[in-house]
Amino acid sequence: MYKPEAEIQFPKDFLLGAASSAHQVEGNNKNSDWWHYEELGKVPKSGLATDHYNRFDEDFGIAQSIGLNAMRISIEWARIEPQPGTWDMEAVEHYRKVLQSMKQRGLTRMVTLQHFTLPWWLAKRGGFSASNADELFARYCVFVVENLINDVELWVTINEPEIYSRMTRFLGLHPPFKKNIISALWYGHCLVKSHKAAFRAIKKSFPNVKVGIAKNDVYNEPARRSHWLDRLTAKVMNYFGNEYFLVRISNELDFIGLNYYFSHVVKLSLFGGYETVNRNAPMSDMGWRTYPEGIYHLLLDLKKYHKPIYITENGIANSSDDMRQRFIFEHLEWTKKAMEQGADVRGYFYWTLVDNYEWHDGFDPKFGLVELNNETLARKVRTSSEIFKQIKIG
Ligand code: FCB
Repeated sequence: MYKPEAEIQFPKDFLLGAASSAHQVEGNNKNSDWWHYEELGKVPKSGLATDHYNRFDEDFGIAQSIGLNAMRISIEWARIEPQPGTWDMEAVEHYRKVLQSMKQRGLTRMVTLQHFTLPWWLAKRGGFSASNADELFARYCVFVVENLINDVELWVTINEPEIYSRMTRFLGLHPPFKKNIISALWYGHCLVKSHKAAFRAIKKSFPNVKVGIAKNDVYNEPARRSHWLDRLTAKVMNYFGNEYFLVRISNELDFIGLNYYFSHVVKLSLFGGYETVNRNAPMSDMGWRTYPEGIYHLLLDLKKYHKPIYITENGIANSSDDMRQRFIFEHLEWTKKAMEQGADVRGYFYWTLVDNYEWHDGFDPKFGLVELNNETLARKVRTSSEIFKQIKIG
């Protein structure tokens, strides 16, 4: 297995963590839209997921033991507000315990308020495209922040608005399985509106809390640098994929969260549109090509917003665990290089801590630093997690 000799040094206060989301780990998320469609057999069943709902303390203990100092989790709207306007205080108390366990384990807490799932009652009305969804989302966010303000350091409103719109409304892979470009574009617009409403409402009541978004950016590079058409193709793709959302919310952000998984080599297709050229690079179990240098270019590009940046997700599905160490190390090396060029990066969260429910792919992809036995739910730390010993902070 690849074992770098070198160490990477990050400044004091740099966050080194792992990311997860509620529906993918907690289990029994019965009031959500996903659960509804799982029961109908339209997507794999999440069941107990990793049973993180009960085993959170064990998980945070593992995170601490492998050298992490932060975690990004998400709160499930469907648990907090199972019916419109009905707040479940037991759910709030549960999350308080979760957050306090993180603190006891020395983990800085980043919390996402909406990560791909919705309460079923809202999904039935069209989700974020319901007429007053922005107000409902802002109301839920303020309620959560008000109750958990002392237990969270960083808040993220929405996870990957563009991927969420694409998967649910364009590719039809996630509930409600629509395949309609207009509806996907409209949904993206509604997510921008909802993010803004939530940001403003939170900041109005609690001006000092830090609120950002987790944005999936793709690094597109031209197949032939010398060819202006290829350069233009890459530019257009970077604009619509990466900038379009951020430009519209750049006044409503305390920090930017970057989720980085994809990079494409693009050229203009003879038939109109674009085509991607295969990069000769190692491939994950999901068929995703890895390209650590891409994170460097994206981070430098984000400098123009003059905001602190957290890498809120970056990870690889790799069941044999033979690629993960190199993957993490090289992404951190390129992150460090971007910081030396002035990118204000404050932390890195690997996706994910424990193998989990990967949406429509079920439990097959193995992203975890920790292997999950799907029968017994036992956790086994993977060798690759030793890489964090080579990352120094301070
Ligand atoms: C991201 C999602 C996350 C997980 C990873 C693999 O797009 O935010 O929930 O599925 O991909």
